[in-house]
Amino acid sequence: MVVTTRSPIRSSVGLKALMAVTGILLVLFLTVHMIGNLKIFTGEISFDHYAHWLRTIGVPLMPETWFLWIQRAVLTFAAIGHIASAAILARRARAARPVKYAHRKPVQGSYAARTMRWGGVIVLLFVVYHILDFTTGTLNPVGDPDRPYAQVVAGFALDRWYVTLFYVLALVALGFHLWHGIFSAMRTLGQQTPAGERRARIVAMVVSVALIGGFLTVPFAVMTGLVS
Ligand code: HEM
Repeated sequence: MVVTTRSPIRSSVGLKALMAVTGILLVLFLTVHMIGNLKIFTGEISFDHYAHWLRTIGVPLMPETWFLWIQRAVLTFAAIGHIASAAILARRARAARPVKYAHRKPVQGSYAARTMRWGGVIVLLFVVYHILDFTTGTLNPVGDPDRPYAQVVAGFALDRWYVTLFYVLALVALGFHLWHGIFSAMRTLGQQTPAGERRARIVAMVVSVALIGGFLTVPFAVMTGLVS
């Protein structure tokens, strides 16, 4: 294996650090987003007010929606850095295997670890659909981004059960992705002793269950009529 200290991007350790740091940024966004979504339980006026406020963060220091666009740019770069480092590391791991396996060995590791790539692809497709659903309103029956509460209620209506099912499946895939991702990131960032690994396992489990559980409350609340 060739390891160079010239550029952090060229070394596999540098790429793993990039993957961990970009992953943490994305998890921070998810945490704030999930907590914000829970405002749906405070009613239509309050939720729409909150969604409108999201576009005005930073005013009067900067014009309306500037903060939103800075956030979008940071998230886009984080996602690109995350996917690119994953792809390069996977290619290096394949290249480091001198001879292809004649028979593929039984895959080691947990279910979450084995599904990182496809989990990531599902989450990416979900984000594209989700933006067209709630941010632009293009695929939403209400189709008015100025009425986010109405869009969420219409989006998870019972006759659109297949959309809700897609959301639930994507959120479960995201949960597995986070579970293994947070564990790996914590190991990369220093939790490498047996006690550190145990800590990383617990944190990864608690954070991913709390995040996905929080996200799932919204479609379930709409489906059961708690939010209407
Ligand atoms: C059931 C779960 C979810 C609900 C109900 C939900 C709801 C929403 C709503 C209402 C908006 C539009 C906010 C606005 O008015 O500007 C939004 C935007 C967004 N959501 Fe979600 N969301 C969920 C899960 C997720 C997940 C899991 C991700 C990422 C993997 C995500 C990523 C985003 C992004 C990137 C935006 C666009 C933000 C922007 O305008 O820049 N959401 N979501």
